[in-house]
Amino acid sequence: EKGGHEFFMDKEIQEQPQAVEDTLRGHFDGTRIVLDEQRLGEDELRTIDKVFVVACGSSYHSGLVAKYAIEHWTRLPVEVELASEFRYRDPVLDRDTLVVAITQSGETADVLEAVRHARRQRARVLAVCNTNGSQIPRESDAVVYTHAGPEVGVASTKCFLAQITANLLVGLALAQARGTKYADEVAREYEALLEMPAAVAETLTLMDPVRQLGRDIADSKAVLFLGRHVGFPVALEGALKLKELAYMHAEGFAAGELKHGPIALVEDGLPVVVVTPSPKSQPLLHSKLLSNIREIQARGARTIVIGEEGDETIAPFADTLIELPRVPALLQPLVATVPLQILAAEIARTRGYDIDKPRNLAKSVTVE
Ligand code: F6R
Repeated sequence: EKGGHEFFMDKEIQEQPQAVEDTLRGHFDGTRIVLDEQRLGEDELRTIDKVFVVACGSSYHSGLVAKYAIEHWTRLPVEVELASEFRYRDPVLDRDTLVVAITQSGETADVLEAVRHARRQRARVLAVCNTNGSQIPRESDAVVYTHAGPEVGVASTKCFLAQITANLLVGLALAQARGTKYADEVAREYEALLEMPAAVAETLTLMDPVRQLGRDIADSKAVLFLGRHVGFPVALEGALKLKELAYMHAEGFAAGELKHGPIALVEDGLPVVVVTPSPKSQPLLHSKLLSNIREIQARGARTIVIGEEGDETIAPFADTLIELPRVPALLQPLVATVPLQILAAEIARTRGYDIDKPRNLAKSVTVE
């Protein structure tokens, strides 16, 4: 069933274009985004005045990615919070709050308790889930399913991309209901999402240098990941994948924080992965990232720069350059995460680990 792959995770990484495509399917009726019409219609969405996203691990990172788009599209404040923190706080919620609970398994204990916590305060709860009939969708007001198919590898890959996709659909549905975007703008954003399976597939064809890199740096003690804007949660996800799969110390940072501490970690030969935005669509952020790369290069880091195809400005600062197809700025995480998954898998493989079943981890965390 591994379809010729050594590990399920390799297969699941390759299935990501399909996961994104299947998650998009059926959510646009030709004029409007449709979420879960029966249980959370436009009338309910229209009165929402605040969004909380609760999740754990990779699912939490998918929520962080979506925050940028949802706030931009809807002008609603979006707070993304670890379920294990949210449930023990006294968050300010009421019936006009939408709580989006993102969970691949639908069974994560802290997310379930966060959902119950939210419902007790009359918030509306929307689950984004990959598992039909699981507990969290059952206890939510509505559900948007990610259609990634079963994920056997313990570390989340295709579910993560499907979650980002579903979260963005939630954002578009909110923008449409609130009228912060015209119908034709929503349709254009949806069309841009429809291009993403092909972009992810193209990214997968560009991964040979990443595998080579993974073999080259497999002996490193640590790897740092830097990003800004939507590249920041991608950096967090890259670091998490590396911890889980390769048992290597890894940290993701917002690149703007470099001078506030993390740069002290940079020493000769330390691999630092930098997720760089498009120079065309995000010129200001791009130039900030360039100076961050210069700073770490000057301190002897081994710079691994992930950037847009044809971006000639980054090449001189990259010891290794990893190119991504050009996609809209807010959608870049759907392609930028792929090399980080493959890097972690390749380092783990080189170290001789079972990437489907990392030590100490379970696929669903039903106890706290
Ligand atoms: C990371 C990973 C975990 C899960 C987390 C939440 O690769 O798989 O961090 O993302 O345990 O699980 P779900 O989404 O099932 O609630």
